[in-house]
Amino acid sequence: MVEIRTLDRVSFEDGLRAWNDGFEGYAYAGRMTLAEWLEHLAHDEIAPEVSVIAFDGARPVGCVLSGMRETGGRKVAYNGGTGVAAEYRGKGVGGQLIEASLERYRAAGADVATLEVVTTNEPALRLYRRAGFEVADRLSVQECPHAVAPAHEDAQYRIVEFDPPTLAGLPFYRQDVPWQCQWQSVAGGRAVYLLSERGETLAYALVRRRHTALGEAMGVGLYQAAVAPGAQEAQDLLRHLVSHALEGAPRCVAMNIPASDPMTLAVLASLGFRETVAQFLMRREMRP
Ligand SMILES: CC(C)(COP(=O)(O)OP(=O)(O)OC[C@H]1O[C@@H](n2cnc3c(N)ncnc32)[C@H](O)[C@@H]1OP(=O)(O)O)[C@@H](O)C(=O)NCCC(=O)NCCS
Repeated sequence: MVEIRTLDRVSFEDGLRAWNDGFEGYAYAGRMTLAEWLEHLAHDEIAPEVSVIAFDGARPVGCVLSGMRETGGRKVAYNGGTGVAAEYRGKGVGGQLIEASLERYRAAGADVATLEVVTTNEPALRLYRRAGFEVADRLSVQECPHAVAPAHEDAQYRIVEFDPPTLAGLPFYRQDVPWQCQWQSVAGGRAVYLLSERGETLAYALVRRRHTALGEAMGVGLYQAAVAPGAQEAQDLLRHLVSHALEGAPRCVAMNIPASDPMTLAVLASLGFRETVAQFLMRREMRP
């Protein structure tokens, strides 16, 4: 039996140890220094009062870190990392942590809880299913093995870029994507818009570009993209915009593109992207 405490009641040292030990051997999270972990918590907007740490005596042995966000008029609690120290796995600690998280979400007024899990992570899937989470979508992480070919210039369209928060005012902005792909999580990114000659927004893409210390393009991540409802030749428009947004970078990745967005997946396939990891988006309603 472990004791559960919220993150706002534990030391930095214990929180970091719960994280690093919890993700030991897990392919998608490396060990962090305290400075890296604190930056990670701030970047992911982790809320300490709904994040929980398990202790066996004085030893921190697992964590579920979470954040809360208002999305589409609903209060969404999202899971930003579940991990249990290797020698404590398979003993119910994960179950206790998830149940404690759900209690905190409820107390904080959450309408729905969400998380992402790699499709082959059986222990995690069993844990989440047992706690009432259900698969809501399949998410594809993809990579392009070569630079994306530049888009042809087309005088009918104009491409402009603004800061990501401008997407919040776009009527067809997709709010129903995983939390890491929402504009709030893409700090330092760009919202790239395709405009018609008359200045109407026909499509958008949310990207983040990385550069070397010498300013050379290193990579681009695509977080989401969509076309205005009713637009003609929608897939061609999206391909035009996405190739513009990604061109020039030697390495391009697309993050968690949902199966419920077949158009973006088709555009990525036509540009040469291939899946590297598949995840499930899972949801659990918090209200009876
Ligand atoms: C996923 C994880 C958090 C589960 O925590 P846990 O404390 O082992 O959870 P529980 O003991 O409550 O067990 C959860 C389920 O996994 C199963 N399980 C545990 N260890 C397992 C293993 N090595 N192989 C297969 N299944 C395993 C349990 O049988 C249980 O399923 P059941 O209740 O239907 O029998 C833990 O395995 C872990 O930290 N893994 C590494 C990090 C990770 O994958 N995090 C999840 C990211 S989404």
